[in-house]
Amino acid sequence: MNNQIFDMNNKNTIITGAAGKLGKSISFTLAELGSNLILVDRFKEDLSRLKLEIDRKYNVDVKTFEVDLENEYDRKKFVENLQEEIKSLNCLINNAAFVGTSNLKGWSVEFEYQSLDTWRRAFEVNVTAPFHLSQLLRNLLRKSEGGNIINIASIYGFLGPDWKLYENNDLANPAAYSCSKGALIQLTRWLATTLGPEIRVNSISPGGIFRNQPNNFITQYKDKTPLKRMAKEDDFTGIIALLASDASEYMTGQNFVVDGGFSAW
Ligand SMILES: NC(=O)c1ccc[n+]([C@@H]2O[C@H](COP(=O)([O-])OP(=O)(O)OC[C@H]3O[C@@H](n4cnc5c(N)ncnc54)[C@H](O)[C@@H]3O)[C@@H](O)[C@H]2O)c1
Repeated sequence: MNNQIFDMNNKNTIITGAAGKLGKSISFTLAELGSNLILVDRFKEDLSRLKLEIDRKYNVDVKTFEVDLENEYDRKKFVENLQEEIKSLNCLINNAAFVGTSNLKGWSVEFEYQSLDTWRRAFEVNVTAPFHLSQLLRNLLRKSEGGNIINIASIYGFLGPDWKLYENNDLANPAAYSCSKGALIQLTRWLATTLGPEIRVNSISPGGIFRNQPNNFITQYKDKTPLKRMAKEDDFTGIIALLASDASEYMTGQNFVVDGGFSAW
């Protein structure tokens, strides 16, 4: 086997939501493979802290961009600025999202209180931004051998919630989260047939990641999972390395489910 297939030296990768919990882990994985990083998130201080951590450990170039992905103008400005700094892009990882725990009005509440405004905002960040960034960045991706897009979806992009998990705790599973992730999985297939053969497009659907959720949730979640535990951020290192690199050069248009078997029943 050619050990170089995971090598991403001198390649450029964008990670949105890089300062978040999974985003950080993905950023470290890409740095480990040798890729230069373009880290995107909302707050400058979080990005600077992450850049410092990566700079200490790895010999890769790290650029940071403070972008509100909910804002069309911000997205365009980001790509314009980036085009002045890089000549090709190997990988775009759409990881930023409004998530179940995001603190938004009309979001983590019962169906009757979920607001249209928050539904629209979630779609803007979770699906419209990946669509728009893919469109704006397609030419930079074409300039790289093996250019590809990875969309971070969710098991709730193809499963309905089992409400027993949410009884007697304050966790939530908003409709807009689930539906926007479903749309992202479909966008992945649409883009794969549109941007091939030069650009590959895949999605990853993680299962629930352990974040000190209430005990009754964790116990039931583990019971429903053949591998008997929740995920940890490192569980996605392998699939990210596979999809971002040439190791997956014949894979496109697929949704890779990494959920300990939660969806296998
Ligand atoms: N945590 C889980 O159990 C789980 C399960 C399945 C899928 N996922 C997916 O994994 C991805 C990462 O989730 P996480 O758990 O690390 O969440 P997180 O909240 O720690 O990270 C999300 C990041 O996205 C950024 N972000 C949100 N809105 C933004 C905007 N408008 N502009 C720029 N950045 C913005 C946030 O600032 C944050 O850094 C998400 O796509 C999520 O849906 C998570």
